[in-house]
Amino acid sequence: MKLEPGLSAFVTGGASGIGKALSLTLAKKGVHVTIVDFSEVNGKEVSVLVERELKKFHPMLQAPSSLFIRCDVSNSGDLAAAFDKHMESFGQLDICINCAGISTPISFYQDKSDGTSSWRRAVNVNLIAVIDGTHLAIKAMKDKGNPGVIINIGSASGLYPMHHDPIYSGTKGGVVMFTRSLIPYKRQGIRVNVLCPEFVLTELAQKMDPKFIQLTGGFMTMNMVVEGAFELIEDETKAGACLWITKRRGMEYWPTHMEERKYRVNPGNQRGAHHTSFLVLKFHAVLRKLFPFRS
Ligand SMILES: NC(=O)c1ccc[n+]([C@@H]2O[C@H](COP(=O)([O-])OP(=O)(O)OC[C@H]3O[C@@H](n4cnc5c(N)ncnc54)[C@H](O)[C@@H]3O)[C@@H](O)[C@H]2O)c1
Repeated sequence: MKLEPGLSAFVTGGASGIGKALSLTLAKKGVHVTIVDFSEVNGKEVSVLVERELKKFHPMLQAPSSLFIRCDVSNSGDLAAAFDKHMESFGQLDICINCAGISTPISFYQDKSDGTSSWRRAVNVNLIAVIDGTHLAIKAMKDKGNPGVIINIGSASGLYPMHHDPIYSGTKGGVVMFTRSLIPYKRQGIRVNVLCPEFVLTELAQKMDPKFIQLTGGFMTMNMVVEGAFELIEDETKAGACLWITKRRGMEYWPTHMEERKYRVNPGNQRGAHHTSFLVLKFHAVLRKLFPFRS
């Protein structure tokens, strides 16, 4: 997707950290942004900054070029209403970034509760709301006949275990596999990708063990994360792609072709890295029946 003035984006968790950086960078390209967050003070502040950037592209525009919507993404009705408001205001949805996320409020190892305010909450925000947001974004794009791109924010801890927060790690692993499984939507022009950063300095990362962060090489720059997200938005070949970003190694797609081959049903037949397995062919045949795919 070529990022150009007039497009519109919906960013959950846009009031701070990674979501804020992505909202501001999109605005610098002239993209209208709806910021969805439960933090009203921060959200309104980001919306003003976004509006300021957008004035440079749309000086005569009377209607707001950015929206802030206060919303707990784990409330499905409120999230659906936020999508409706975005569509009423901007008429279409080109980019959806499901970024809102939390660490688990109480350590799983010490948790004596039923999980309502701890691990269930983390699952609802980090995984269920990402599924819901993806579903609503696809519906909005299909209703308007305007396919776009969805970026789900996973984490490096969705690719390998983070022992001190197993629930966070589990939710992010869910986001990774959910998103990678959505590759068939590419046939309808909708690309869904997942971004998996290691550590970048934000409010959330400040709650992590600094010794562990040091072991990984310390914080990467926010710029690296933004670059990764923009690659997934702009590169039309990326669908069901998972981009891992670390300070140590930079950007790498996961799994590698070599790794992926191990999971195929007919590993004996290895004519090339892009070889399609019998299982995948069968799977696509089923999907063709289910969806009215474009040829
Ligand atoms: N910072 C890192 O090192 C890092 C690494 C990998 C992945 N991530 C992921 O990046 C995403 C953004 O995190 P961040 O580091 O920018 O943290 P952050 O705390 O700076 O930002 C998270 C934002 O999400 C909002 N939010 C949280 N729960 C919400 C809810 N229920 N409804 C609406 N808004 C909600 C918060 O108010 C906040 O504005 C998260 O999904 C996080 O898991 C972060």
